[in-house]
Amino acid sequence: MRVLVTRPLPGGVEKKLQGMCTLEVGSPASDRADLLRRIRGASALVCLLTDRIDREVFDAAGPELRLVANMAAGVDNIDLEEARRRGVRVTNTPDVLTEATADLAWALLLACARRVVEGDRFVREGRFHGWEPDLLLGQELFGATLGIVGAGRIGRAVARRASGFGMRVLYTQRHRLPVETEAALGLSYVPLQELLERSDFVSLHCPLTEETYHLLGEEELRKMKPSAVLVNTSRGPVVDERALARVLRERGLFAAGLDVYEREPEVDRALLDLPNVVLLPHLGSATEKTRRKMAELAVEEVLRFCRGEELLHPVV
Ligand code: DGY
Repeated sequence: MRVLVTRPLPGGVEKKLQGMCTLEVGSPASDRADLLRRIRGASALVCLLTDRIDREVFDAAGPELRLVANMAAGVDNIDLEEARRRGVRVTNTPDVLTEATADLAWALLLACARRVVEGDRFVREGRFHGWEPDLLLGQELFGATLGIVGAGRIGRAVARRASGFGMRVLYTQRHRLPVETEAALGLSYVPLQELLERSDFVSLHCPLTEETYHLLGEEELRKMKPSAVLVNTSRGPVVDERALARVLRERGLFAAGLDVYEREPEVDRALLDLPNVVLLPHLGSATEKTRRKMAELAVEEVLRFCRGEELLHPVV
Protein backbone atom coordinates (compact mmCIF):
# COMPACT_ATOMS: atom_id res chain seq x y z
CA MET A 1 0.00 0.00 0.00
CA ARG A 2 1.37 3.43 -0.97
CA VAL A 3 0.87 6.46 1.28
CA LEU A 4 1.70 9.99 0.19
CA VAL A 5 2.40 12.69 2.77
CA THR A 6 2.45 16.01 0.92
CA ARG A 7 5.05 17.70 3.20
CA PRO A 8 7.34 16.56 6.02
CA LEU A 9 5.31 16.71 9.26
CA PRO A 10 6.26 18.30 12.60
CA GLY A 11 8.59 16.02 14.57
CA GLY A 12 8.95 13.73 11.56
CA VAL A 13 5.92 11.77 12.80
CA GLU A 14 5.23 10.48 9.28
CA LYS A 15 8.07 7.99 9.90
CA LYS A 16 5.63 5.99 12.05
CA LEU A 17 4.12 4.87 8.76
CA GLN A 18 7.33 3.20 7.59
CA GLY A 19 7.02 -0.55 7.72
CA MET A 20 3.21 -0.36 7.46
CA CYS A 21 3.26 0.94 3.90
CA THR A 22 5.39 2.33 1.11
CA LEU A 23 5.82 5.90 2.27
CA GLU A 24 6.41 8.83 0.00
CA VAL A 25 6.94 12.29 1.48
CA GLY A 26 6.89 15.50 -0.55
CA SER A 27 9.47 18.20 0.03
CA PRO A 28 8.73 21.37 2.08
CA ALA A 29 8.49 23.19 -1.26
CA SER A 30 6.11 20.67 -2.88
CA ASP A 31 3.61 22.35 -5.18
CA ARG A 32 0.40 21.22 -6.85
CA ALA A 33 2.18 19.76 -9.88
CA ASP A 34 4.18 17.66 -7.48
CA LEU A 35 1.03 16.48 -5.71
CA LEU A 36 -0.66 15.55 -8.99
CA ARG A 37 2.39 13.61 -10.10
CA ARG A 38 3.10 11.80 -6.82
CA ILE A 39 -0.45 10.83 -5.88
CA ARG A 40 -0.92 8.40 -8.75
CA GLY A 41 -1.66 4.98 -7.28
CA ALA A 42 -1.58 6.10 -3.62
CA SER A 43 -4.09 4.44 -1.27
CA ALA A 44 -3.92 7.12 1.41
CA LEU A 45 -2.95 10.76 1.48
CA VAL A 46 -1.91 12.94 4.41
CA CYS A 47 -2.39 16.54 3.35
CA LEU A 48 -2.40 20.08 4.74
CA LEU A 49 -5.07 22.77 4.58
CA THR A 50 -3.02 24.42 1.82
CA ASP A 51 -3.47 21.35 -0.44
CA ARG A 52 -6.62 21.71 -2.53
CA ILE A 53 -8.01 18.20 -2.87
CA ASP A 54 -10.49 18.40 -5.72
CA ARG A 55 -11.69 16.36 -8.67
CA GLU A 56 -8.37 16.86 -10.48
CA VAL A 57 -6.48 15.34 -7.55
CA PHE A 58 -8.93 12.43 -7.23
CA ASP A 59 -8.60 11.81 -10.98
CA ALA A 60 -4.81 11.93 -10.78
CA ALA A 61 -4.84 9.51 -7.84
CA GLY A 62 -6.99 6.93 -9.54
CA PRO A 63 -9.24 4.34 -7.90
CA GLU A 64 -6.61 3.18 -5.39
CA LEU A 65 -7.16 6.25 -3.21
CA ARG A 66 -9.34 5.34 -0.19
CA LEU A 67 -8.36 7.82 2.53
CA VAL A 68 -7.54 11.52 2.77
CA ALA A 69 -6.26 12.48 6.24
CA ASN A 70 -6.24 16.27 6.52
CA MET A 71 -3.85 17.73 9.09
CA ALA A 72 -6.40 20.41 10.03
CA ALA A 73 -9.77 20.71 11.69
CA GLY A 74 -11.22 22.63 8.74
CA VAL A 75 -11.89 20.58 5.64
CA ASP A 76 -12.91 23.34 3.22
CA ASN A 77 -9.79 22.52 1.15
CA ILE A 78 -11.33 19.14 0.25
CA ASP A 79 -14.20 18.51 -2.16
CA LEU A 80 -16.19 16.36 0.26
CA GLU A 81 -18.96 15.69 -2.24
CA GLU A 82 -16.47 14.30 -4.72
CA ALA A 83 -14.84 12.18 -1.99
CA ARG A 84 -18.24 10.81 -1.00
CA ARG A 85 -19.09 10.03 -4.62
CA ARG A 86 -15.87 8.09 -5.05
CA GLY A 87 -16.07 6.31 -1.71
CA VAL A 88 -12.94 8.02 -0.36
CA ARG A 89 -12.91 8.47 3.43
CA VAL A 90 -11.83 11.87 4.79
CA THR A 91 -10.60 12.61 8.32
CA ASN A 92 -9.63 15.80 10.15
CA THR A 93 -7.84 16.71 13.39
CA PRO A 94 -10.29 18.43 15.75
CA ASP A 95 -9.95 18.67 19.57
CA VAL A 96 -6.17 18.82 19.68
CA LEU A 97 -6.02 22.41 18.41
CA THR A 98 -8.92 23.82 20.41
CA GLU A 99 -7.01 25.49 23.25
CA ALA A 100 -4.15 26.80 21.10
CA THR A 101 -6.58 28.41 18.67
CA ALA A 102 -8.69 29.88 21.48
CA ASP A 103 -5.51 31.37 22.98
CA LEU A 104 -4.65 32.98 19.66
CA ALA A 105 -8.14 34.45 19.29
CA TRP A 106 -7.62 36.03 22.71
CA ALA A 107 -4.17 37.26 21.73
CA LEU A 108 -5.82 39.07 18.82
CA LEU A 109 -8.69 40.40 20.95
CA LEU A 110 -6.25 41.87 23.44
CA ALA A 111 -3.81 43.11 20.82
CA CYS A 112 -6.60 44.94 18.96
CA ALA A 113 -8.35 46.28 22.05
CA ARG A 114 -5.16 47.64 23.62
CA ARG A 115 -3.35 48.58 20.39
CA VAL A 116 -0.39 46.36 21.26
CA VAL A 117 1.08 46.21 17.75
CA GLU A 118 0.65 49.96 17.18
CA GLY A 119 2.31 50.58 20.53
CA ASP A 120 5.25 48.34 19.67
CA ARG A 121 5.76 50.16 16.37
CA PHE A 122 5.47 53.50 18.11
CA VAL A 123 8.29 52.65 20.52
CA ARG A 124 10.54 51.12 17.83
CA GLU A 125 10.11 54.20 15.65
CA GLY A 126 11.48 56.35 18.48
CA ARG A 127 8.20 58.20 18.90
CA PHE A 128 7.75 57.50 22.62
CA HIS A 129 8.67 60.68 24.45
CA GLY A 130 6.83 60.00 27.71
CA TRP A 131 3.43 59.16 29.21
CA GLU A 132 0.55 61.14 27.76
CA PRO A 133 -3.07 61.18 28.98
CA ASP A 134 -4.47 60.28 25.58
CA LEU A 135 -1.73 58.21 23.99
CA LEU A 136 -2.99 55.17 22.01
CA LEU A 137 -6.22 54.75 23.93
CA GLY A 138 -7.93 51.44 23.42
CA GLN A 139 -11.08 49.59 24.44
CA GLU A 140 -11.70 47.86 27.76
CA LEU A 141 -12.36 44.12 27.73
CA PHE A 142 -13.35 43.74 31.36
CA GLY A 143 -17.11 43.70 31.74
CA ALA A 144 -17.71 44.05 27.99
CA THR A 145 -19.89 41.84 25.78
CA LEU A 146 -18.27 39.13 23.67
CA GLY A 147 -20.11 37.69 20.67
CA ILE A 148 -19.12 34.22 19.50
CA VAL A 149 -20.13 33.20 16.00
CA GLY A 150 -20.04 29.39 16.06
CA ALA A 151 -20.05 27.84 19.52
CA GLY A 152 -18.28 24.62 18.59
CA ARG A 153 -15.18 23.40 20.39
CA ILE A 154 -13.06 26.49 19.71
CA GLY A 155 -15.89 29.00 20.16
CA ARG A 156 -16.67 27.50 23.55
CA ALA A 157 -13.00 27.53 24.58
CA VAL A 158 -12.88 31.25 23.69
CA ALA A 159 -16.07 31.80 25.72
CA ARG A 160 -14.59 29.97 28.75
CA ARG A 161 -11.67 32.40 28.84
CA ALA A 162 -14.10 35.33 28.85
CA SER A 163 -15.26 34.55 32.39
CA GLY A 164 -11.85 35.73 33.67
CA PHE A 165 -12.61 39.09 32.08
CA GLY A 166 -16.07 39.32 33.62
CA MET A 167 -17.65 39.40 30.15
CA ARG A 168 -21.18 38.67 29.04
CA VAL A 169 -21.05 36.11 26.24
CA LEU A 170 -23.56 35.98 23.39
CA TYR A 171 -23.39 33.33 20.72
CA THR A 172 -25.02 32.51 17.45
CA GLN A 173 -24.95 29.47 15.20
CA ARG A 174 -27.21 27.49 12.91
CA HIS A 175 -28.50 25.13 15.60
CA ARG A 176 -29.10 26.49 19.05
CA LEU A 177 -27.45 24.54 21.90
CA PRO A 178 -29.60 22.78 24.52
CA VAL A 179 -30.63 25.24 27.23
CA GLU A 180 -28.71 23.27 29.91
CA THR A 181 -25.51 23.51 27.81
CA GLU A 182 -26.02 27.24 27.39
CA ALA A 183 -26.47 27.62 31.13
CA ALA A 184 -23.42 25.50 31.94
CA LEU A 185 -21.26 27.52 29.54
CA GLY A 186 -22.76 30.90 30.48
CA LEU A 187 -23.78 31.54 26.87
CA SER A 188 -26.85 33.44 25.66
CA TYR A 189 -28.20 32.69 22.19
CA VAL A 190 -29.11 35.60 19.90
CA PRO A 191 -29.55 35.83 16.12
CA LEU A 192 -26.50 37.07 14.18
CA GLN A 193 -27.83 40.60 13.60
CA GLU A 194 -28.48 41.11 17.29
CA LEU A 195 -25.09 39.68 18.22
CA LEU A 196 -23.39 42.14 15.89
CA GLU A 197 -25.37 45.08 17.26
CA ARG A 198 -24.82 44.23 20.94
CA SER A 199 -21.26 42.89 21.08
CA ASP A 200 -18.17 44.93 21.92
CA PHE A 201 -15.99 42.08 20.65
CA VAL A 202 -16.91 39.52 18.01
CA SER A 203 -14.88 36.36 17.43
CA LEU A 204 -15.57 34.06 14.46
CA HIS A 205 -15.41 30.28 14.90
CA CYS A 206 -17.64 28.82 12.23
CA PRO A 207 -16.44 26.49 9.47
CA LEU A 208 -16.32 27.79 5.90
CA THR A 209 -19.29 26.39 3.99
CA GLU A 210 -21.56 27.73 1.26
CA GLU A 211 -23.74 29.19 4.03
CA THR A 212 -20.94 30.96 5.88
CA TYR A 213 -19.20 32.42 2.79
CA HIS A 214 -19.25 36.22 3.34
CA LEU A 215 -21.39 35.75 6.44
CA LEU A 216 -20.09 39.18 7.42
CA GLY A 217 -20.50 41.47 4.43
CA GLU A 218 -20.65 45.27 4.40
CA GLU A 219 -24.21 45.37 5.73
CA GLU A 220 -23.40 43.11 8.68
CA LEU A 221 -20.12 44.89 9.47
CA ARG A 222 -21.92 48.24 9.54
CA LYS A 223 -24.30 46.84 12.18
CA MET A 224 -21.38 46.51 14.61
CA LYS A 225 -20.52 49.27 17.09
CA PRO A 226 -17.85 51.73 15.89
CA SER A 227 -16.00 50.86 19.12
CA ALA A 228 -16.14 47.11 18.42
CA VAL A 229 -13.34 44.69 17.59
CA LEU A 230 -13.69 41.81 15.14
CA VAL A 231 -11.40 38.77 15.30
CA ASN A 232 -11.26 36.04 12.68
CA THR A 233 -9.34 32.84 13.36
CA SER A 234 -11.73 30.63 11.37
CA ARG A 235 -11.48 30.99 7.59
CA GLY A 236 -10.91 34.15 5.58
CA PRO A 237 -13.88 33.96 3.19
CA VAL A 238 -16.32 34.08 6.13
CA VAL A 239 -15.69 37.86 5.99
CA ASP A 240 -15.88 40.05 2.90
CA GLU A 241 -12.32 41.36 3.20
CA ARG A 242 -12.74 44.38 0.88
CA ALA A 243 -15.86 45.48 2.81
CA LEU A 244 -13.99 45.00 6.08
CA ALA A 245 -11.14 47.22 4.88
CA ARG A 246 -13.66 49.91 3.87
CA VAL A 247 -15.47 49.81 7.22
CA LEU A 248 -12.19 49.90 9.16
CA ARG A 249 -10.87 52.80 7.08
CA GLU A 250 -14.05 54.78 7.78
CA ARG A 251 -13.77 53.92 11.50
CA GLY A 252 -17.04 52.00 11.40
CA LEU A 253 -15.15 49.49 13.57
CA PHE A 254 -12.42 50.11 16.14
CA ALA A 255 -10.11 47.34 14.94
CA ALA A 256 -9.86 43.85 13.48
CA GLY A 257 -7.52 40.97 14.21
CA LEU A 258 -7.09 38.55 11.33
CA ASP A 259 -5.31 35.22 11.28
CA VAL A 260 -6.92 34.09 8.03
CA TYR A 261 -7.60 35.71 4.65
CA GLU A 262 -10.01 35.49 1.78
CA ARG A 263 -7.35 34.68 -0.80
CA GLU A 264 -4.74 33.22 1.53
CA PRO A 265 -1.77 33.72 1.53
CA GLU A 266 -2.55 36.94 -0.38
CA VAL A 267 -3.55 39.80 1.93
CA ASP A 268 -5.63 42.64 0.56
CA ARG A 269 -3.48 45.75 0.02
CA ALA A 270 -6.21 47.86 1.62
CA LEU A 271 -5.78 45.94 4.90
CA LEU A 272 -1.99 46.19 4.86
CA ASP A 273 -2.24 49.99 4.80
CA LEU A 274 -4.52 50.27 7.85
CA PRO A 275 -3.18 50.89 11.37
CA ASN A 276 -6.23 49.43 13.12
CA VAL A 277 -5.72 45.84 11.91
CA VAL A 278 -3.52 43.16 13.43
CA LEU A 279 -2.47 40.62 10.82
CA LEU A 280 -1.10 37.15 11.54
CA PRO A 281 -0.04 34.39 9.11
CA HIS A 282 -2.61 31.70 10.05
CA LEU A 283 -1.05 30.83 13.41
CA GLY A 284 -4.17 29.62 15.25
CA SER A 285 -2.82 26.15 15.98
CA ALA A 286 0.85 27.11 15.79
CA THR A 287 2.33 25.83 19.03
CA GLU A 288 4.93 23.08 19.03
CA LYS A 289 2.69 20.81 21.10
CA THR A 290 -0.47 21.32 19.05
CA ARG A 291 1.10 21.03 15.62
CA ARG A 292 2.76 17.80 16.69
CA LYS A 293 -0.55 16.44 18.01
CA MET A 294 -2.28 17.36 14.75
CA ALA A 295 0.37 15.53 12.74
CA GLU A 296 0.21 12.52 15.06
CA LEU A 297 -3.56 12.37 14.72
CA ALA A 298 -3.45 12.50 10.92
CA VAL A 299 -0.82 9.73 10.88
CA GLU A 300 -2.84 7.70 13.40
CA GLU A 301 -5.81 7.78 11.02
CA VAL A 302 -3.64 6.28 8.27
CA LEU A 303 -2.31 3.58 10.62
CA ARG A 304 -5.87 2.68 11.60
CA PHE A 305 -6.87 2.60 7.96
CA CYS A 306 -3.92 0.26 7.16
CA ARG A 307 -4.93 -2.04 10.03
CA GLY A 308 -8.57 -1.99 8.99
CA GLU A 309 -9.62 -0.27 12.24
CA GLU A 310 -12.30 2.33 12.79
CA LEU A 311 -11.24 5.90 11.99
CA LEU A 312 -11.11 8.40 14.88
CA HIS A 313 -12.47 11.52 13.17
CA PRO A 314 -14.21 10.64 9.94
CA VAL A 315 -15.78 13.57 8.12
CA VAL A 316 -16.79 11.42 5.16
C1 DGY B 1 -7.36 24.15 11.11
O1 DGY B 1 -6.91 23.10 11.55
O2 DGY B 1 -8.38 24.18 10.44
C2 DGY B 1 -6.64 25.40 11.47
O3 DGY B 1 -6.99 26.45 10.66
C3 DGY B 1 -5.14 25.17 11.45
O4 DGY B 1 -4.52 26.19 12.17
